Amino acid sequence: MYFKESNGFPETFLWGSASAAYQIEGAASEDGKGVSNWDQFVRIPGKTFKATTGDLAVDHYHRFKEDIALMAEAGLKTYRFSIAWTRIIPDGNGEVNEKGLAFYDAIIDECIKYGIEPMVTVYHWDMPQALQDQYGGWENRQIVKDYVRYATTLFEHFGDRVHYWITMNEQNVFTSLGWLTGMHPPGKVMDQKMFYQVNHHANMAHAYSVLELKKRYPDAHVGASFAYTPGYAWDCKPINAMAKADYDDLQNYFWMDVYAYGRYPKAAIRYLESNGIHIQMEAEDQKIMKQAAALIDFMGVNYYQTAAIEYNPIDGVGMSTEVNTTGKKGTAKEEGIPGLYKKPSNPYLEKTDWDWTIDPMGIRMCCRDITSRYDLPIVISENGLGAFDKLEEDNVIHDPYRIAFLEAHLKELKKAIDDGCDVWAYCTWSFTDLLSWLNGYQKRYGFVYVDREEDDTTAKLNRYKKDSFYWYQNVIKTNGKDL
Ligand code: NOJ
Repeated sequence: MYFKESNGFPETFLWGSASAAYQIEGAASEDGKGVSNWDQFVRIPGKTFKATTGDLAVDHYHRFKEDIALMAEAGLKTYRFSIAWTRIIPDGNGEVNEKGLAFYDAIIDECIKYGIEPMVTVYHWDMPQALQDQYGGWENRQIVKDYVRYATTLFEHFGDRVHYWITMNEQNVFTSLGWLTGMHPPGKVMDQKMFYQVNHHANMAHAYSVLELKKRYPDAHVGASFAYTPGYAWDCKPINAMAKADYDDLQNYFWMDVYAYGRYPKAAIRYLESNGIHIQMEAEDQKIMKQAAALIDFMGVNYYQTAAIEYNPIDGVGMSTEVNTTGKKGTAKEEGIPGLYKKPSNPYLEKTDWDWTIDPMGIRMCCRDITSRYDLPIVISENGLGAFDKLEEDNVIHDPYRIAFLEAHLKELKKAIDDGCDVWAYCTWSFTDLLSWLNGYQKRYGFVYVDREEDDTTAKLNRYKKDSFYWYQNVIKTNGKDL
């Protein structure tokens, strides 16, 4: 749609940045922290680039004051970060660790000191390894109780100061990479039945925790963050349009319908059942999912790219288990679900160094679709560009590519707001550079460069502002007026 004039970003707009505990904190075994699935998984040879671990990460655990001061200097209105379950309840379901609570108290209070709204992710992929060992983690229904106890501990302790909660980060990604491609823990490949069962457990963990939060803090804002990759039908051949509908039901609405409506898309369930996959549910589950859906306040969207969708014959391509850890364009493999759809490379769009399609208009598509389908407010909980950055001799980093990427996305976001989408927040991924789960430190996302490399045991960890830092500072100062 076209509007002669733009209303711009609302005055209350939350300009922010996001991070995740495992990717920034380090201090892997300090102050009583337990071992997480990631602490363990990265030690399996060949799993991460140059065997990088998060043991030190960017040492946010000891430098959070410096990092939050930089956020304040940039003018951030919100900071989205996750809490490490293993700091709060080191073995997953035993004693609460007071030192863990104290660490996040300090982060939250530091944010508030500068007028930065803390936005807390309860679960960003780091699960207590003890729960994996005890009963298989997400594979066992017991996880729902343990997750809800953990989440409720957070709500009760931090709920007086935290007004924005994200229950799950990219459930679609951690379950796909954990049980289909095997790239993330627990490293299972094409275990489809378990993939859907694990998702149901995560949905119930999300749903029960929403109810617990709202019992205690009815005015808190809560949602889940979904990695939304909108699809475009390859062309106007009806079979490709149908492939796109299948893609949406199985890869997008399969999660978003649960969060927003409390139910799975019918066609997806029919498809699974006809393939012998029956999700095990308890009697109350559907009711609880609906109750939680009625209570969520926003859809969290992590937006990075779009996909082109084409019909995939029954003997066509399957899921790829290869990961591009090199940062070389053109190494990604086409993938899909035989008999349904595949995702050919979109010839109209450029790619990042890691073969992620660059499509600013996609962010507007996300917002429009969520608004039409669910009529929910939107929090863009992540958006950003992973790139190779270079620290120059005089400690400057010129990253015009990141500025161009973010600026193009924000222009489209502004149009989505003009379209009538109720967008509350925009968080870039990330603020400082941080550990990329599989790619070490070669793939950088931040406004602030962190001086370290993968195998750098004497890492200085100094923070240097990139050009994009000053650009974002100005965007925030002017509330996006010049976009
Ligand atoms: C999404 C995830 O939430 C985050 O942890 C990850 O590092 C970024 N995408 C970039 O891949």
